[in-house]
This record gives sequence, structure tokens and C-alpha cells, in this order.
Amino acid sequence: MKKIREYPKQEYTMKEDFEVFQAIKKRISVRSYSSNPVEEALRRELETYIANLENGPFGTKPRFKMLDLEPLDKKELKGLGTYGFIKGARLYILGAIKDTPGALEDLGYCMEKIILKATSLGLGTCWLGGTFKRAAFAQKMDLGADELLPAITPVGYPADQTLPSDNLIRLAAKSKKRKPWSELFFGPGGKTPLTENEASPYHDVLEAVRLGPSASNRQPWRIVKDEAGKYHLFLKENKIYNRLMGKIRLQNVDMGIAMCHFAAVAREQNLPGSWILEPDAPAVPGLQYIASWSG
Ligand SMILES: Cc1cc2nc3c(=O)[nH]c(=O)nc-3n(C[C@H](O)[C@H](O)[C@H](O)COP(=O)(O)O)c2cc1C
Repeated sequence: MKKIREYPKQEYTMKEDFEVFQAIKKRISVRSYSSNPVEEALRRELETYIANLENGPFGTKPRFKMLDLEPLDKKELKGLGTYGFIKGARLYILGAIKDTPGALEDLGYCMEKIILKATSLGLGTCWLGGTFKRAAFAQKMDLGADELLPAITPVGYPADQTLPSDNLIRLAAKSKKRKPWSELFFGPGGKTPLTENEASPYHDVLEAVRLGPSASNRQPWRIVKDEAGKYHLFLKENKIYNRLMGKIRLQNVDMGIAMCHFAAVAREQNLPGSWILEPDAPAVPGLQYIASWSG
């Protein structure tokens, strides 16, 4: 059995310093922000958290930058637009990767950890993979020729009242809706739905995957539990949608987010394990294999 990478021993015993499942349940995409700047102490806590992040499950470490728009002049600000999707945010986190296998998943994994940490601090965030001016943000990131900038997120206090446009976007993306268990999780062979009872003691772990954010809320994650009780993660890719932006495949970022929710809640609930590449993972028609959880 080949490990994707050797995890440092402490990773799966060390828990987050916040309640992960709670944060997963609480997080929503926030698109309207208060004009109050993020308190210095919170900002520093987030910066320290980012600095101490470990590699993603495929062994790469994305590069993150916190960008404060406050000191910028009007012209520069205009260049760094989000096409009106985000209102009032003055702080952003930018995530870049080298274009190597598994790096998109690692970006999803590590950036979602930051987003959950921010949520636990009472801050709003919103994954942005499409509706931002990538070239202008890339310049602020000093993006290398071999790097990609798959996503950014605003960070700030949610505005007291969401704007009507905010609600419209949420409605269009059917943000509150998630697919039922029966469409996401399956028993051996990938044909029969896995019941919530059959998932025990991994019930909350799978629920955490189901509640995750995904690009356009397409929810492309699928999980198969085999006869031996092992969980295998697959991507139900929409090839046209996922390949619209060339090398930046947002549905692979979605898979990293799912891996983050799975591993973090497993750890929180004292379920040992790590993500590995399993040579004998089941083949399921129509689904792309991503990784297996080895307990
Ligand atoms: C990889 C990724 C890219 C996303 N890109 C955008 C985007 O460009 N613009 C936007 O408004 N929302 C974007 N979203 C947010 C999703 O639309 C949102 O997560 C989904 O509708 C579920 O809603 P929720 O986050 O409120 O639970 C993105 C989410 C993910 C995971």
C-alpha cells in the first residue's frame, strides 16, 4: 500500500484549537462585509495559523498571502475587482500553488483549514475561484511563471444586513441546498446508497463532507465504503465545467475541501487514519478515483 506521503506522526493525533465540526456547520459564503477592519489580534492569530499550516495530503504546500486593500489608491482598488460579487471586504487571502499533481487538492485542503479557522474566530469568508480579476490579484501575489492562483477569499466581519444581491447569488447557487446522502455515499461497488446507520462511527465525518462548499455548489464528491470498511473518495467530474479555466480545475479544489473536512472531523472524533493512494481501490464507472482513508 503506497502512502501519498509520510504524515508526521502528530498530525492525526493533534487536533485543531477550535471545534471543527461546529465551524463546518456554521460556515456560509459571506459576500457583504462590514466596514470595520478585522481586529489586529484576530488578524495576527490567522497569520500565525497560516504560517504553521502543514502540507496538504498530496505533500505540497500552497503559498498564501494576506492582502490588505486599505492602503491602495482608488485606481488600484478598481483593478482588484470581484465583478460586484463581494461588497465591502478590505482584507483578502490569496492561495497559489506550483502546477504539480495533487496541488489543486492540497490548495483546497489547506485553504479550507484557514477558512474554518476564520469562521471559528467569527469572521466571514467566501471561496472565489471564478468571480475575481485573477491577473490583478496574481500581480499582488508576485505569482511565479510556474505558479497558479486558483482561489482567493475575502475575510472580514459579515455586514449586519445582507444585500438583496447577496441573497440572489445564494439563491442562484442554491447555496443552502446539499444533495442527500443517497446521492453522495455508497456501499461496496458504489451502487447501493450507504445509510446513515451504516456509516457509524463515520457518520459526522461524512456529514462534514456533505456540508462542504463547492464551486457553483455542484457537490462533486462521492464516497464508497468497501467490504473491509474502508472509505474511498471519488470525483464526479463535470468535464466541461471543470476544464473551462485550463489548468485551474475548481472541482479538484472541491476534492481537497472534502479531504480537509473528512480528516479534520475524524481527528476531532478520535478516529485514526490518513489519506493514501490505494492501488486496489475499487473502480466505479463515471467516477474518478482521488484517495482512500486508511484507518
Ligand atoms: C472552489 C470554489 C470556488 C468558488 N468560486 C466562487 C466564485 O467565484 N464566486 C462566488 O460568488 N462564489 C464562489 N464559490 C462559493 C460557492 O458558490 C458556495 O460555496 C456554494 O454555493 C455553497 O454555498 P455556501 O458556501 O454558502 O455553503 C466557490 C466555492 C468553491 C469551493
